[in-house]
Amino acid sequence: MRKLIAGNWKMNGLASSLAEIEALKGLTGEAACDIVVCPPFTLVEKAVECTKGAAIAVGAQDCHAQAAGAYTGDVSAGMLAEIGARFVILGHSERRLAYKEMDAAVAGKAAAVHEAGLTSIICVGETRAERDEGRAIDVVRAQLEGSIPDTATSSNMTIAYEPVWAIGTGLVPTLEQIGEVHSSIRHMLEERLGDDGRRVRILYGGSVKAQNAKAIFGVSNVDGALVGGASLKASEFAGIILAAV
Ligand code: G3P
Repeated sequence: MRKLIAGNWKMNGLASSLAEIEALKGLTGEAACDIVVCPPFTLVEKAVECTKGAAIAVGAQDCHAQAAGAYTGDVSAGMLAEIGARFVILGHSERRLAYKEMDAAVAGKAAAVHEAGLTSIICVGETRAERDEGRAIDVVRAQLEGSIPDTATSSNMTIAYEPVWAIGTGLVPTLEQIGEVHSSIRHMLEERLGDDGRRVRILYGGSVKAQNAKAIFGVSNVDGALVGGASLKASEFAGIILAAV
């Protein structure tokens, strides 16, 4: 399966940061994978302009489940589609934690993303305590069951497994642990979507760097990465992209 490497800039980036996207174009011209950059809302439209003609898609980091209405501070999937976004990250653990986003809310947003013709990147992952209690797989499974809407197919949904304890910490699960969770996600996707479940891309996220990317991409059922900190610098992000073959 062709890999997907997505950069989640989180709440980082001013207009000057678009220079990193410019640099990325030069560094990854003939990349063997799909590339997505997800800057904050304020830069989505500019990033779309800046990637015109390049093999780099642009995504957002959240959206509202409704198409329009009295939702102060929110942005709909249709609005993102209108300015050229193609992906939306949903259910990131930082949002699940800070805004108490539950699985059902994530599923509602994902359905709106699919309705708008965009692709959802649905994030799941256990906390350190849940892993220590031996519940990592059960937690991920329950999150997936609740967060995937009936509108999902392999063409409009990607899953990102991001163990909460590996995000921004420099800690990475062993390759065996990653393989174990990814294969159980694959199993669950097949149960849910039948044969189409085999074609859904499953990304790993959590302290991915140019230096550890190749080993992670060698794990079965790892179809790419969702990258935080290392996506902010074009040279580091390009190193990850070039490790994906
Ligand atoms: O969504 C990506 C993210 O949560 C991983 O962050 O900085 O550990 O790559 P980081």
